[in-house]
Amino acid sequence: MKTQVCIIGGGPSGLLLSQLLHLKGVDTILLEKHSREHVLSRIRAGVLEHGFAALMREAECGERMDREGEIHEGFFIAHDGKLDRVDLHKYSGGSSVVVYGQTELTRDLYEARERMKGQVIHNVEDVTLHDLKSDAPFVTYRDGDKIVRIDCDYVIGADGFHGVSRKSIPKDVLREYEKVYPFGWLGVLSRTKPVSPELIYAKHERGFALCSLRSQVLSRYYIQVPLSDTVDEWSDAAFWEELKRRLPSEVSAKLVTGPSIEKSIAPLRSFVAEPMRYGRLFLAGDAAHIVPPTGARGLNSAASDIYYLYHALIDHYRKNDDAGLDAYSQKALARVWKAQRFSWWMTTLLHSFPSNIPYDNKLQETDLAYLLSSERALGSLAENYVGLPF
Ligand code: APR
Ligand code: PHB
Repeated sequence: MKTQVCIIGGGPSGLLLSQLLHLKGVDTILLEKHSREHVLSRIRAGVLEHGFAALMREAECGERMDREGEIHEGFFIAHDGKLDRVDLHKYSGGSSVVVYGQTELTRDLYEARERMKGQVIHNVEDVTLHDLKSDAPFVTYRDGDKIVRIDCDYVIGADGFHGVSRKSIPKDVLREYEKVYPFGWLGVLSRTKPVSPELIYAKHERGFALCSLRSQVLSRYYIQVPLSDTVDEWSDAAFWEELKRRLPSEVSAKLVTGPSIEKSIAPLRSFVAEPMRYGRLFLAGDAAHIVPPTGARGLNSAASDIYYLYHALIDHYRKNDDAGLDAYSQKALARVWKAQRFSWWMTTLLHSFPSNIPYDNKLQETDLAYLLSSERALGSLAENYVGLPF
């Protein structure tokens, strides 16, 4: 087989890029390790910055997002038994975010790819990248007993943190930066009315908690837990009780509980791989970087990679101009690191760190008090949360 751009990974990054390129007449083949059902069974984050929402519309995939997603102009920070609202709209100069689940967004992208007869190949095994430093790279995969070869101009590694693309870059070329936090988030999805129309990020001495939502009938809640905890140790009743303890009483009194329809623990980790290009291979999204979920940057950082790559590839094919491709790694990483900084800051501000000495806790309290008393500090929070410009 032959294509212009071979994309590895059918998560939001790979799907969005293939859809955008297709609309501009660039041919792609997308290879996904799992079935579509498997990809759509993963529960991930749900806050989209306005730039991402605009990209979804450009990809002709924004209709349901605009109909069913909710525009949020603020969120709450709970601390010391009270709630403070962060007015994103005011402090970001009129911006907002869209609350729309990643699962739904991925479903919309798959449906668009299907509608346009895009080539998306599922259940591929042993994907291997070849000759990335040459002008004629190719990708192979196994389909049963058969090895299939795809010749292409470029390979896009959008295969997530555990994918094969990053691992195809020689160790002496790649530099990896990592920070592992000493806790995880236990998340519960439940068919209950959300406790608050806007998200609540709660700082509490027992640990962080987050009240989020997917719709007015579907809630998503999280609590910080030690890494040694397992899902089996947390009954639904124990989860709700612990969540209530970490929320101000005016909130916990209103909390509607119900059976969990999904429950999982995700460790918190920051990771960046540099550079994001190796010859004809370009990394995008989780394949190159991940963040703790606190600042809702994961999916949004993937979106800015796709924005840069999309424009760079179009310049290459339409104008024979490779400046965008040559600048991709540097440009993408500059924004990635800002998202890393913001996620680290928000995580540090709101979580309980087991190794903190009393001095650290005082600094953390002061950081929060300063934030809530300074319009400029709130402005910094707001501009990062709604998304820095691409
Ligand atoms: N071959 C083909 N596909 C692969 C391979 C492989 N060797 N390894 C992994 N994949 C697939 C995974 O099955 C997955 O569907 O690549 C896809 C990567 O998708 P994501 O992990 O969702 O990564 P990405 O598309 O970059 O999405 C960005 O933002 O909210 C965050 O972490 C969250 O997934 C989210 C991310
Ligand atoms: C979510 O709804 O899953 C969610 C929202 C905001 C975050 C993290 C996760 O910061």
